[in-house]
Amino acid sequence: MDFEVAPLSPALSFALFSLAGVLSFVGLAVESGRDRLDRCVEVMSAVLLTLDPTVAAEQMMPHLTLIFGHSPKPWALDVLVVDVDGVDCLIVEELLQIVRPKILQVEVVAHIPPPFRFSLHWHASHSPDWDRFYHADRFTPTAGCSLSYALHKFRPFGYDLLRLTEHDAVFVHQSIAKVIEPGYHVKLPQDEFQCYRNSTLWFQRPASYVREWFFAKHPSAVIGRIWSNISFLNVEMGREPLPFTLDF
Ligand SMILES: *[C@@H]1O[C@H](CO)[C@@H](O)[C@H](O)[C@H]1NC(C)=O
Ligand SMILES: *[C@@H]1O[C@H](CO)[C@@H](O)[C@H](O)[C@H]1NC(C)=O
Repeated sequence: MDFEVAPLSPALSFALFSLAGVLSFVGLAVESGRDRLDRCVEVMSAVLLTLDPTVAAEQMMPHLTLIFGHSPKPWALDVLVVDVDGVDCLIVEELLQIVRPKILQVEVVAHIPPPFRFSLHWHASHSPDWDRFYHADRFTPTAGCSLSYALHKFRPFGYDLLRLTEHDAVFVHQSIAKVIEPGYHVKLPQDEFQCYRNSTLWFQRPASYVREWFFAKHPSAVIGRIWSNISFLNVEMGREPLPFTLDF
């Protein structure tokens, strides 16, 4: 694997997969929406299906078995990229039951700063319906999960934060830390607060709100405001019953 010593761009996965034939990369892309999948098909003629977060691992199993055969799990993927503007972290968590990617790139809700652990959750009866009205170009400020939520969930599987791009977090597995640390001039694990402060991020809420939440004297001083912002937006989108987690 040839690591470029440069900030990872959101197009990393695209670049890697276009090289797939050359480098025999094994990856797994999770997309949302038929039109986006169709575009993926043009680039990668591989496996495509719609994932249900409650059975994501089970759904992926037959396809991954084609690649990994009956070797012991978790299977070592090189790259896993998840960006579904929905229950991204839940899908990753589910897939980590069977795969262990070296590089894990997940879209995060940048406007919910550390230490707040936010994640959208799945509504068994409403979510499949709402998914049908999903459009990739429409803002979904209450979808996805925050950086601190992702780290909290992925750390037990051996992941550290490498980089934040405008809307994605790139995690690396501890098994490749020895290659990553000198290559990127970092010492893992990095401080998520410092990384967040140092990054250029894309917010779907006013920066003044995010600043207030991030620099609060104590998380308890602002968690109520974050909570009511999310609830308010869910009501505005006609999705009042949408379940979510918010903690710190
Ligand atoms: C953040 O930026 C400061 C100043 O440029 C630098 O000293 C520090 O190493 C950076 N930390 C991280 C975690 O990126
Ligand atoms: C959203 O958060 C901001 C900043 O904390 C706060 O001023 C505003 O009242 C909140 N909005 C709602 C609807 O709760």
